[in-house]
Amino acid sequence: MTNKNKTVWSGRFKSPISKSFQRIGASINVDKRLYEQDIFASKIHTQMLIKNKIIPVKDGKKILKGLEKIKKQIKKGKFVFKEKFEDIHLNIEKKLFEIIGVSAGYMHTARSRNDQVVTDFKLWVKDSSLIIIDELNDLMKNIIKKAEKNIGTVMPGFTHLKNAQPISFAHYLLAYYEMFKRDKSRFFNNLELIDDSPLGVAALSGTSYKIDRHFTSKKLGFKKPTNNSIDTVSDRDFAIDFLYACAVCAMHLSRLAEDFIILNSDAYKLISFNDKMLTGSSIMPQKKNPDPAELIRGRTGINYGKLNSILTIMKGLPISYFKDLQDDKSLVFDGFDTLKDTLIMSNELIKNVYPNKTRMLNMANTGYTTATDFADYLVKEKNLSFRAAYKISSKIVNYAEKNKKNLDELNLNEIKKFYKDLDLKVLKIFNVKNSMNSKNSFGGTSEKNVKSMIKRYKKELR
Ligand code: ARG
Repeated sequence: MTNKNKTVWSGRFKSPISKSFQRIGASINVDKRLYEQDIFASKIHTQMLIKNKIIPVKDGKKILKGLEKIKKQIKKGKFVFKEKFEDIHLNIEKKLFEIIGVSAGYMHTARSRNDQVVTDFKLWVKDSSLIIIDELNDLMKNIIKKAEKNIGTVMPGFTHLKNAQPISFAHYLLAYYEMFKRDKSRFFNNLELIDDSPLGVAALSGTSYKIDRHFTSKKLGFKKPTNNSIDTVSDRDFAIDFLYACAVCAMHLSRLAEDFIILNSDAYKLISFNDKMLTGSSIMPQKKNPDPAELIRGRTGINYGKLNSILTIMKGLPISYFKDLQDDKSLVFDGFDTLKDTLIMSNELIKNVYPNKTRMLNMANTGYTTATDFADYLVKEKNLSFRAAYKISSKIVNYAEKNKKNLDELNLNEIKKFYKDLDLKVLKIFNVKNSMNSKNSFGGTSEKNVKSMIKRYKKELR
């Protein structure tokens, strides 16, 4: 075998690696996505080796130039990734030999692929967390825009999917704002935990070279170097944290999607979508289906799967590096791609959803949704206990049901059958908008509250 085709570690091996394992064990098709991080980290590592006089300056400079060249080649699509060189690290190192010759041999001093891969991967997860945070920000902005237009839009609020109490459509949307705000915090919190630089722990025990891990850490944009070399090459918590944050965010998106699917269904017809967000049927001409919402809901399964897989790979894995760890990257990349697409679709969905206001109002008024308000009225105006008032209100609901009337269709005389001491003022209690606006406690659905909450959110987002 010519030198050019040899792996860097072939020295002790009597036969070349099995063809099938070469294919299955190579990660290059997945981890080539780390090329920018790999080259960046190699450059910083080389700068440190030069600075600390561990390698000759002239070879170091050649390495830095060569790495830049390789980056350009990859960017232009001119780099041929080779399975026989396993992964991104060895593909780049091999290419460096091709470009600058033996000087390339100085680059891998005082490091191992074990610290190299975690460094690249952490850098990638940091960047990608920021991309997800950006998408979440857009989503939160779009929710606010939609909410602002619907502060006074009354809809039925549900518990158990049964009409419960009138709420503002804006308040309903802003519930999701809160979920996405927590998601954002989750990704931000992860950025704290991931912020230790692995570079320089080498294979597992550290190194005898006089390296400067504080220098590389700082240059790479980490807060500080990791404390324990063994933990450093074994740890994939940051990947798990990322996939967990993705899974929770996907779960929130799936709830929004499912809500929208239900509200858009022919049984409810409370919202509709711009045709952009619908697809037709190949057989039923009348159909308009909410496919994007369904994909958002369904793909949560993919995000859960990735989290589950990485947790399972890590379970019981003895410490330090094992090949098992190599599959962490495809899981995280897929988790990221899936969530990013889901977020993009969700942004579109929010922009293109429209409440059917009349139907919302009518439905808010069915199902006796102001029965609690009436009980509260008796408590506040007539000094009844809530339980006593609840009983009276249930009787009125029974009466209305029997007479096929909504509560706001009852007249004073009918109401007085259940509690004598009442006047016309009581009728306003059964108005759903009044009910909504009476929920003025902090965090409640009144228009006044929702308006000031939107103001606060806008400030936060700025
Ligand atoms: N491609 C490997 C991975 O992703 C890089 C680390 C290889 N280390 C080793 N000791 N074989 O895990």
